[in-house]
This record gives sequence, structure tokens and C-alpha cells, in this order.
Amino acid sequence: MTAAFSTLPSHIARCPQLQLSDSCSLYPDRQHAAALSLLKVKNDRCEAVISVQGAQLLSFQPAHGKPLLWLSPKAIFQPGKAIRGGIPLCLPWFGPHADDPSKPQHGFARNRDWTLLDAEAVDTGTTRLVWELRYPDPVADRSPPADPLLAGAFRAQLVMVLSDRIDLELEVENTGNQAFPLSWALHSYHPAADIAAAAVSGLEECEWWDNADRATPAGQKVKQLQSGAVAFNGEVDRVYINVPAAQQLHCGGDTLTIRGKNCASAVIWNPGAALATSMADVGAEHYQEFVCVERGNTAENSCQLAPGEIHRAWLTITRD
Ligand code: BG6
Repeated sequence: MTAAFSTLPSHIARCPQLQLSDSCSLYPDRQHAAALSLLKVKNDRCEAVISVQGAQLLSFQPAHGKPLLWLSPKAIFQPGKAIRGGIPLCLPWFGPHADDPSKPQHGFARNRDWTLLDAEAVDTGTTRLVWELRYPDPVADRSPPADPLLAGAFRAQLVMVLSDRIDLELEVENTGNQAFPLSWALHSYHPAADIAAAAVSGLEECEWWDNADRATPAGQKVKQLQSGAVAFNGEVDRVYINVPAAQQLHCGGDTLTIRGKNCASAVIWNPGAALATSMADVGAEHYQEFVCVERGNTAENSCQLAPGEIHRAWLTITRD
């Protein structure tokens, strides 16, 4: 548990909709290498749990409805390791690092503790939280290695507004004196009653390539055009670029809408049976329960962030 979260700072403790907890207490049936700090949010319109590590929403349940997010029954809570489920934030790069495969997959923002700058009960049914991550971190990166994680500096802010829906606003500011490449995704895990009956619409006619085709090197993959909705019969790992604002996940009569602004990419992912078997935090028995509809800016939609420049994006998740 981070020292900052053994108690809540007084201006945050005043928010009546928040409660400090930890992963061992809230999820006794999961695996824990250590107790990670968690925040519980309860207002008139939802209940949610957020991990300080990654500023990661782990669960979100509207007061009058089913959960919008999936957290793996086999999730592992371990400092520095991404938690399988909810909405991890992949940043400052998405996927494997472009030049150095030894660097963490999907960047490092999801593996680090964030600072809760502010928390506010906007009204009895709306909670607003402001999280911040700075790189380099004055403590963790005090003695940077010869090959630092990123040749650059940034401040990321994630604002969560939790009501009967999830509203997220991401801001990344280059606080250094050199430009760096930025790609990212809000890697949302959504529940699917039955993966075989799930479909994602809103990507028709978009270009995509197949990450599940591991035989073809990244730079040589041929783009395809999406025809109809995306269905799931085996591993699906597709990167879509220049997508429309909204996608819908349909499953068993339930429809979730994932709507982004300045999120030009979408990644649709489910590992399928074979890959899930090799994943300790999913397993063959749980891959059928979720679909990832990830939104962000990656590949051709990624950017160079110049010194002083701020990149902003928004994401809303609703049940129709
Ligand atoms: C997806 C990628 O975004 O995330 C997949 O497209 C990857 O290739 C998946 O397997 C999960 O990644 P991780 O690092 O959380 O296991």
C-alpha cells in the first residue's frame, strides 16, 4: 500500500461518497502478492472500485443495472503488474514498445501508483475524481537507468465522473524539453454473457489488421476492411484505425455503447480458448465472459507530443 493511501488526504476524506479499502479485503477470492490500495465509490447512481495502481477502474455497477466492466475471477493483485479487468490505461505506448521489446507491454502507466489529486461529490448521484501520474517520478525514477523507460517527461491526468455511466477525460502534457511518441488506449473489459453470441458494431468499413497473426511481422501486416459486425469465434485481436465516434457491444439482449472523442483507434480483443489457457489471470474457464473494446490513438493515429503540448481525449460508456 502506498504511504499516500494509508489514509485519505483530508480534502479527499471529506467526500462522503469515498471509502478507502484494499484488494485483500474487497476481493478475498482473488490472488494477492500484496494488498493494493483501492477506493470504493458509492453514490445514488452507482458503485465503483478503483485501484490506485494504474488509476484503474476495476468495477462499475449502476444502481439499477448490471455491471459495465468485467474483472477476471482470476485477477492477480501484485505491485507493478497490470490487473486483468476493468479499464487499465495503456500509456505512453500501446502494445509492445516500438524499438525495445524488453520494455513493458502497453507502457507503464497501468503498473504505477497514481496520485488522487481531488475527489468531489458533484451531487448525490455523481462523483468526480482527478488522478495524476508524473514521469519521471521524483521517487521511483530518482536514479534513472542508462536506458530510461521514456526519453521524455510527461504529466498524465485522468478525470473520472461516475454516475449512471462512466465518463473519462484523459490529458497528457509533455513537461520535458524534447518531443516523444505517444500512443495509448483505455483498455476496457466488458462483460459478455456468452462470447459466442457477442458482436461489436460501429466498425463497418474501417481498416484493421490482425494482431492474432503472429507469423507476420508488425510492419508487414496487410490491412483488411471490416464487413459487418465483429464476431468472436476464436482469438480476436484487431487494431482498427480512423474509427467512428461510437461502437456498440451487443450480447444476449444487452447493449453497451463506447463513445470516444479524439480516440481515433479501436482495438477489439478476446484471447479465445487456447491463448486464455496460457494466461494465469484468465484461464480456459473465463475467456467466454468478456470482450475488450479499447479506444485510444495507436499506430497511424499515434502522435509526437512536442514540449508543452497537451493531448486530450474523452470516453463515455453507457448501457442503452
Ligand atoms: C490487447 C492487445 O490490447 O491487449 C493484445 O491487442 C494483448 O495483443 C491484450 O494480448 C492483453 O495485453 P496484456 O498485456 O494486458 O496481457
